[in-house]
Amino acid sequence: MRFNSELMEQKHFGQEEVRILEEIILHRRDVRGNRFLPTPVSNEILEKILLAGINGPSVGFSQPWEFVVIRDQEVKRRVRESFNAENEKASGLFDNEKSIKYRQIKLEGIEESALNLAVFYKPSAGVVLGQTSMKEVGLYSVVCAIQNMWLMARALNIGIGWVSILDPEKVKQILDAPQENQLVAYLCLGYVNEFLDRPELEILEWEKKKLLSQVVIHEKYTKPK
Ligand SMILES: Cc1cc2nc3c(=O)[nH]c(=O)nc-3n(C[C@H](O)[C@H](O)[C@H](O)COP(=O)(O)O)c2cc1C
Repeated sequence: MRFNSELMEQKHFGQEEVRILEEIILHRRDVRGNRFLPTPVSNEILEKILLAGINGPSVGFSQPWEFVVIRDQEVKRRVRESFNAENEKASGLFDNEKSIKYRQIKLEGIEESALNLAVFYKPSAGVVLGQTSMKEVGLYSVVCAIQNMWLMARALNIGIGWVSILDPEKVKQILDAPQENQLVAYLCLGYVNEFLDRPELEILEWEKKKLLSQVVIHEKYTKPK
């Protein structure tokens, strides 16, 4: 079939769409257990979020992702156990004052959220176009899918919390995941009582927000003298 761009409807966005996209990006938040509501998330809504994920970009269009939807409280409880063990180890890694503060911060919403989503990288069997020099781009593709889901969820007024304080092998074991799969993210997903207007870790003065001027380099880095 001949590609005829004139026959294809070219989508053109205006200022209103830009404004809405900006709003969704700015109001996306990481949501933790203290804000999730038990309200169930319908399959229809979940499908919308997952579809946003699989419409993300991927190296060589390899789509190297798999999503495990978890609603079972017992499975969640076992994953939470892994969080507890890892979080205990983590709290000892910060110096005194920060360690005390760390222990006070809620860093997951595994059992409180309506559902959990384990997102895996499934390495492709053959050679992947574009993944020949930097192998890690397969993983980056999965992260692109996650960000798409995070934004779609926010547009649907659903919160997502990313939990990375977990033993990935334990999670794989709990979910009977194939050996070759790599856990990229464990997400908590559900309706919330509130979306904060700034990152919680900024509000709690754990980290400061970086300005554009601190992270954008024009042309080249300046060599240290
Ligand atoms: C790769 C990744 C891993 C994260 N892991 C955790 C986590 O284990 N626990 C947690 O509370 N937040 C986690 N977060 C959320 C970040 O803390 C959060 O994105 C950041 O503080 C900025 O806040 P915001 O997402 O609300 O803008 C993670 C985020 C990313 C991108």
